Amino acid sequence: MGAGSGKGKSILFGEHFVVYGLPALAAGIASETTASVNRKDTPGWTLEDNRPEMPGYKKKKADEQRASVENILRFCGIDLTESGIHIALGGELVCASGIGASAASCVALARALDEEFDLGMDDSKINAAAYQGEMGYHGTPSGIDNTASTFGGLVWFIRHLEGGPPSFEILKLNRPVHLVIASTGITASTKAVVDDVRKTKEDNPEWWKTVADEYLQLVTDARAALIDPDLERVGGFMNRNHELLQELTVSCKELDNLVALARDNGALGSKMTGTGRGGNMIALAPDKDTMVRIAEALRAGAEAVWTTAFGL
Ligand code: MEV
Repeated sequence: MGAGSGKGKSILFGEHFVVYGLPALAAGIASETTASVNRKDTPGWTLEDNRPEMPGYKKKKADEQRASVENILRFCGIDLTESGIHIALGGELVCASGIGASAASCVALARALDEEFDLGMDDSKINAAAYQGEMGYHGTPSGIDNTASTFGGLVWFIRHLEGGPPSFEILKLNRPVHLVIASTGITASTKAVVDDVRKTKEDNPEWWKTVADEYLQLVTDARAALIDPDLERVGGFMNRNHELLQELTVSCKELDNLVALARDNGALGSKMTGTGRGGNMIALAPDKDTMVRIAEALRAGAEAVWTTAFGL
């Protein structure tokens, strides 16, 4: 049997902007998806998906998941015409939009295949395989999700629009930063939302330039404030990033309500994270006690709430 795992992630700054070559910051979170691969005599592959989920997530993503598995098998050069494999997915990462569930499963599967078929893949090859898997979920992934899932930590990520591998850096902070993640319970189609943003951008190039210029300054300042560190400033940047995402029309009232609830209960900043139009939001806490208070408050309005830390 081959086994592997991939981390969930939270985008702190830059979902959607990252698709167009602007820098983004994402944090790998502790929860993981696991995959195992067992050989079987019959050709082809079968999948048993035991991951916990927000209701309806797996059904909604089933076709994309099939395309994703095929892409990873092709990338890894695995021929299943004579004999096949059985894939089992598990782990504690709850499948929900915005937490990097698809990327985590791609990374986990690539690692399990690597182990079972002795492919000698290093992390950058695993990341490349997972990127192909992510393409099954939506045609033009930036690559930030699979990168955060493969390497973990706090990732500064830039996609190069002219092609070639993205640049990324793992940033170290001098203390952990506490984060609360809450789910609206709504599963969004990343492909549909990304396509919509692309259309709005193409229809309004001047508007896009203004928003993108402001975002670029914001993420540059946010990186400095995280490293320095000045968490109050980071929180302010998160709030403004949320407003910019509202301008992109990728937030929704369920996300806006949770974002406001977190701020009312002591968050230094809060924003939607990931695809949007459902999915998750995040809140930055000044300390552990406030993190617990924010999480308690969010439980009243969210489908699920998690706490995590990043940066060390
Ligand atoms: C999805 O987690 C993040 C998006 O920016 C898409 C991507 O980066 O591929 C919406």
